[in-house]
Amino acid sequence: MKCEGFTIIGGGVIGLSIAYQLLKQQQQVTLFHAEKTTTASLAAGGMLGGQNEFYAPSPLYNLALESRTLHKKIAQELFELTGQDVGLLPSGLIKIATNKQGLQDLQQQYDFLHNDRPASIHWLNQSDLQHYEPLLGRVIAGSFHIYEDHQVNARALTKALFLAIQQLGANIIDEEVIAIEKEQQQITYVQTACARYAVSQVVLAAGAWTPRLAATLNINCPMQPVKGECLMLKADQLPKATIFSTDGCYIVPKQQQMILIGATSYPLQEDDAVTAGGIHSLLTRAIQILPSLTKAEIIETWCGVRPQTMDGLPIMGETPYSNLFLCTGHYRNGILLSAITGLLCSQALLGDNTAKQRLAPFALQRFTI
Ligand code: GLY
Repeated sequence: MKCEGFTIIGGGVIGLSIAYQLLKQQQQVTLFHAEKTTTASLAAGGMLGGQNEFYAPSPLYNLALESRTLHKKIAQELFELTGQDVGLLPSGLIKIATNKQGLQDLQQQYDFLHNDRPASIHWLNQSDLQHYEPLLGRVIAGSFHIYEDHQVNARALTKALFLAIQQLGANIIDEEVIAIEKEQQQITYVQTACARYAVSQVVLAAGAWTPRLAATLNINCPMQPVKGECLMLKADQLPKATIFSTDGCYIVPKQQQMILIGATSYPLQEDDAVTAGGIHSLLTRAIQILPSLTKAEIIETWCGVRPQTMDGLPIMGETPYSNLFLCTGHYRNGILLSAITGLLCSQALLGDNTAKQRLAPFALQRFTI
């Protein structure tokens, strides 16, 4: 069987976003999608933390801000095309510290973000905070408000992208790719447990599973899996904004009285077990921050595996194989970055030099030179 046009390996938001943008440019797309319970896209909190996740200048910072804005346009497009709402809520985000070390980190981050975009954030004193979020407990040592770090429903976004590419004519193959074949500097076939497919242009976007597939081509992807657990509660009272603590605990108010609590972090783990210790630690911290959560109902627990590169930046760009493009390693920010990643990677794949230049800091070669 021959896959014409672009073959994308990976059905998370990164692969789907690239597929979506390529299809909008009338390209032929085949997407291999393996149902995995620990896919990061389905586990994510959905925060569009364009500022929240940055403490210092980084090649990713401007892309993150651009992506945050682009989500509004894409949410609208996806709704018009599929009728699926991605749950984009204009909640903003309040970053908090609950101890001395956290307060120092918070102040440093505030200085960086405020210096860069003074009107986008605001330091909250105790009375500002009590006024804006009266549900918060007394453990808060400091906080600031990021006005534009809104959020989506990560599962709804994944579903909307999936429906959109289906509607735009993608050939979706529900089989897990287990190996990629080459002949000299060209990718020739991808193999699944069921069949072997001849390919033309290949995009490898398999998140935490990328290094294993890349290894079948002797490509070293310096990445590690980082498992994270989350839970969903239903509560009578919700905070207005996402509350994100410097210790990594976050509380995200969702539609229908739901509150998402995340996330633990276990480097080098990729199993699908949700542990008592993980949920205990999340609930302990979340209840300290928002005491009214003691009465909330537990609806669901789950985990996912984030793909983290050794320098924390994604890998996006060409490879030693002339027809293989890599796009992976979005770590904690896959949902946020999916919009700009889909746009820039599709442009680069279609030969746009500006897009290629913008992706240059994320080239795989940075690890080899
Ligand atoms: N995006 C937050 C996390 O990975 O936990």
